[in-house]
Amino acid sequence: MKKKLVVLSGAGVSAESGINTFRDAGGLWEGHDVMEVASSEGFRKNPALVLDFYNKRRKQLHEVHPNKAHTLIAQLEDVFDVTVITQNVDDLHERAGSNNVIHLHGELLKARCTQNENTIIRWTADITLGTLHPTTQQQLRPHIVWFGEAVPAITKAMQIVKQADYIIVIGTSMQVYPAAGLIDYAKPNAPIYYIDPNPAQLPHLSNPVEVFPLKGSEGMKIVVENLIKINEL
Ligand code: APR
Repeated sequence: MKKKLVVLSGAGVSAESGINTFRDAGGLWEGHDVMEVASSEGFRKNPALVLDFYNKRRKQLHEVHPNKAHTLIAQLEDVFDVTVITQNVDDLHERAGSNNVIHLHGELLKARCTQNENTIIRWTADITLGTLHPTTQQQLRPHIVWFGEAVPAITKAMQIVKQADYIIVIGTSMQVYPAAGLIDYAKPNAPIYYIDPNPAQLPHLSNPVEVFPLKGSEGMKIVVENLIKINEL
């Protein structure tokens, strides 16, 4: 039986692929206030701006590729039973070969009707005001969890974290809840490896914690070597 490993990833894991993180640019994301483009209130105030913002992010997926950190995470599946729980809305973990990915904050390549959150469909084209959901014929919106909205995948994510033998936290400022609270559910003896060039202060945990203040690709290389050694003992 393979040991269970959970990877909790944030925007930083995709930084080396050329996707800007949220908070590194001082609260601006691609020139916008995060709350303007990533909140339900922002969408109510200026839906055209928000739709356009996500159209650009969706288009950007054609120009970017998984980096070494994504690939190393995918390769861990050779040795461990891996689940990636990501705050990211890009599809780079999947493209690198990860098979179990939970997207806490939605996915750029999915859309849903503004009136009913259970109408999720795969969607690769632009969404503008007037683009309707093919079934409900209501305005379509990106399948993104904005500030002010519930995070439906969190319950499943908590269950998975509770069972993990090892946890890797990579590329997140640990500022956004409930995602940042997931490590509180770790088994007390499960080692936690935190990779981030500018790591946040983690909450007090009884777990063994190792922090690697490195870029995702560099940190993952070391953590993978360590984990494989430990697993062979
Ligand atoms: N490798 C690894 N980590 C990196 C790299 C890199 N090359 N470059 C930057 N980072 C780190 C930063 O130091 C920072 O701690 O990535 C982290 C990115 O933090 P945020 O921008 O806050 O991203 P994240 O934690 O994923 O944000 C959470 O906030 O706006 C919402 O819904 C959005 O999912 C997002 C959530």
